[in-house]
Amino acid sequence: MRSHSSEGGARERRVLQDFARALSVIVDAPQLHTVIAAQLRDVFDLERLAIVLHDPVAGGYQLAESRGLDEDTAQLLSWEEGARLVRWLRVNEEPLVLAEQPGVVEYLDEQERNKLTASGSQAAFPLVAMNRLTGFLLVGGERALDGEGRDLLMQMAHQAALALENAALVSEQRARLRRLYRAERLATAGELAAGAAHEIRNPLTSIRSTIQHLYSSLPEEHPAREDAQGILEEVDRINGILEALLSFARPSEAVFTLVRLDDLVRQSVDLIAAQARRQGVEVAVDLPADAIPLVADAGLLKQVLLNLMLNALQAMEEGGHLLIRSQSIPPRRGEPAESGGALIEVVDDGSGIPEETLERAFDPFFTTKATGTGLGLSICYGIVERHGGDIEIETHEGEGTTVRVRLAGGGK
Ligand SMILES: Nc1ncnc2c1ncn2[C@@H]1O[C@H](COP(=O)(O)OP(=O)(O)O)[C@@H](O)[C@H]1O
Ligand SMILES: [Mg+2]
Repeated sequence: MRSHSSEGGARERRVLQDFARALSVIVDAPQLHTVIAAQLRDVFDLERLAIVLHDPVAGGYQLAESRGLDEDTAQLLSWEEGARLVRWLRVNEEPLVLAEQPGVVEYLDEQERNKLTASGSQAAFPLVAMNRLTGFLLVGGERALDGEGRDLLMQMAHQAALALENAALVSEQRARLRRLYRAERLATAGELAAGAAHEIRNPLTSIRSTIQHLYSSLPEEHPAREDAQGILEEVDRINGILEALLSFARPSEAVFTLVRLDDLVRQSVDLIAAQARRQGVEVAVDLPADAIPLVADAGLLKQVLLNLMLNALQAMEEGGHLLIRSQSIPPRRGEPAESGGALIEVVDDGSGIPEETLERAFDPFFTTKATGTGLGLSICYGIVERHGGDIEIETHEGEGTTVRVRLAGGGK
């Protein structure tokens, strides 16, 4: 920084303390990004700043937050896991100041160089915590580059990296707890339901045959015939619900084979296409060019896709957009291929789900619909679980919902 060393030292300490204090009270990742960006920009008077972070789901490094960049430029700022800039920062754990290290700049890919130039970045600072490259900062502004500024920014980057790792751990822990509670609730409700379903089935069968008998013994023109017909239909509806319930509580043997996810998606989309058209919902499919091979039960996976798409349609009574997107998840570094897999997203721009509903959405029988069974999501959950995967919902009221299903590559 510009001030002289003793004074500068005091100021640095204060800046670091303030920064640490601000970060220590936040565990929400997006909020953390905002605070880090705001503070760094303030302290170093940055013209441009991009925070690029590791994405544990999709792999690679993606822009999390930026200042002073237009949207088109910001869009460009993503790096692959093995990109040269990433590798250099990971190995060297020190800032790369472009003007000082032409050799390194030369070593980067042309694309990478273009991204740096387009974003007006003068240096890249690694965010390292627990021996991992959590991400990096791209900065434009002289104050961050002089000797003292550089040291201070490195220290702040280190604090930021720790806070980010911490936030990731906390949110992972929360998600794990949520899954645990959910599994517990499902197991209890499932057992109760299966018991009840069995009990209901027998009397229902005798009701059905009695009505059937009554129906056929009535003369063709008898006015009660229509009523009897109506009762039969309702009984069949109850039966349908019981079947779904039993299949959920006591699932049949899954048959795992090598399947093509894109085929399953297309087949499922075909099934809802007519319904979507009637409602004025536009359906789009975004699948990678390469087939994603999966070891899974094709029938069960289609059931998951169908349930999710139907929920989406039901949230868009007045029309909207439905997108089914999938991509493969590369295996984590140093872990076996099974740590990879597939990510499927069902995205709608329908009603969204209010907080209170979201908490209970996976509970069996929980429904907000007049004719819903409340079994769709709990069945999906059970199936995805049997595939060694997980399912989560991101939703914004009035804007829409994204359901994310992650499936393990090697099956179970
Ligand atoms: N894509 C979605 N958009 C809005 N709400 C949803 C969506 N998916 C699920 N929900 C909510 O979760 C509840 C439970 O869903 P589900 O288990 O499939 O049962 P059902 O569809 O029979 O109601 C729904 O009643 C609805 O309130
Ligand atoms: Mg449903």
